[in-house]
Amino acid sequence: MTDPVLTDPALTNPWGSGAAGPIARVRGTRDVVPGLSAWPSWQRLKTRWIASPGFQRWATRFPLTRPIARRNAASLFDIGAGFVYSQVLTACVRLHLFEVLRDGPLTTPEIAQSVGLRPDAAGRLLRAAAALDLVAAAGAGGYQLGTLGAALLGNPGVAAMIEHHALLYADLADPVALLRRETGPAELAAYWPYAGGAHPESLTPAQVAAYSALMAASNGMVADQVLAAYRVGRHKMLLDVGGGEGTFLRAAARESTRLRLCLFDLPAVVERARARLAAADVLDRAELHGGDFFQDRLPDGADLISLVRVVHDHDDVAAMTLLRNVRRALPAGGTVLLAEPMAGRHGHPKVADAYFGFYLLAMGCGRARPPELLCDMLLQAGFKRPRLRRTAAPMLTGLIVARG
Ligand SMILES: C[S@@+](CC[C@H](N)C(=O)[O-])C[C@H]1O[C@@H](n2cnc3c(N)ncnc32)[C@H](O)[C@@H]1O
Repeated sequence: MTDPVLTDPALTNPWGSGAAGPIARVRGTRDVVPGLSAWPSWQRLKTRWIASPGFQRWATRFPLTRPIARRNAASLFDIGAGFVYSQVLTACVRLHLFEVLRDGPLTTPEIAQSVGLRPDAAGRLLRAAAALDLVAAAGAGGYQLGTLGAALLGNPGVAAMIEHHALLYADLADPVALLRRETGPAELAAYWPYAGGAHPESLTPAQVAAYSALMAASNGMVADQVLAAYRVGRHKMLLDVGGGEGTFLRAAARESTRLRLCLFDLPAVVERARARLAAADVLDRAELHGGDFFQDRLPDGADLISLVRVVHDHDDVAAMTLLRNVRRALPAGGTVLLAEPMAGRHGHPKVADAYFGFYLLAMGCGRARPPELLCDMLLQAGFKRPRLRRTAAPMLTGLIVARG
């Protein structure tokens, strides 16, 4: 089957030698792109059946189709009600409900007192959270952590991400207006002021504080995935471009005590990284550079350069400018790591196409790209042999390794 992402005419090469046509072709696909008329007739028939109210009524009664009909109805309901579920989760996070239950079950009145709600409101929240597996009934009217609530406590970065979703929630209040760009500046665009901004290097400490802290809180999970999939110990110096507060560098420093560290980010972010690297006692083996990675020359000397959750923030032309700049800084035989959530069949469609599709729309630029496209962009920028590496949780990040 042909991958529609790679044959979408909108994705033809915006930066190459002028050659039009699909950016890349997945190995094993056919050259001929089937048009809509080539949609198999059995599929048309199936869709027409499913869309008919009569078939829907029959399918819920007929024993063989009943389980499928129920599953589909539940999936559709979950999509429609998903915004309520996520607000239940937001309430739990804001009220620190999972921390309250960390040490074991409590009664509803005890929980109500700890989170500052009336018992009836606490009971309502607890029943909703139990239905979502965030907490679990513990008998005698008590509640304990549920599987998902416990997992959230184990990943503190997730709570920070959930809190900041309040901005996206506001931006998505009228999704059609957002798609038509009829709404004013989105809340998320202000939260990420470098996105589409003219002089990102002039951003003040106050402007970078919120997003930098969020990235630092959530980077650990991503760093674990990348460092498990690629051993950094064979390298002498790692330059993390768009390295934020240095969380990835600190994780890499723990993997290899001899690795020298280098970070490039906006000047105001670099100052935050300096404090973090000093607190982690690795500042003496690190050099920090502030600037604009589109305009300024990146520091030389690293035989390994990483781009963690950076490229997807930018539109295609800007992303190519960045990749070419990284290529200039990497010596022949050096290695580049490109790590971020990816689209297509190697990624996680709900994350890449639904979540990031709308998140980045509100932010104002960027997109999650399929690995085939990222590999082709790396080739266009002058890198060699780009390869997708398997990560344990592609939902969090994919990883492409290429050579200079
Ligand atoms: C989404 S954050 C990722 C941070 C970090 N790599 C991580 O995964 O936690 C993108 C980073 O790129 C930096 N950045 C964005 N535009 C930049 C530019 N033009 N020059 C330098 N850094 C930039 C931001 O300040 C931010 O730290």
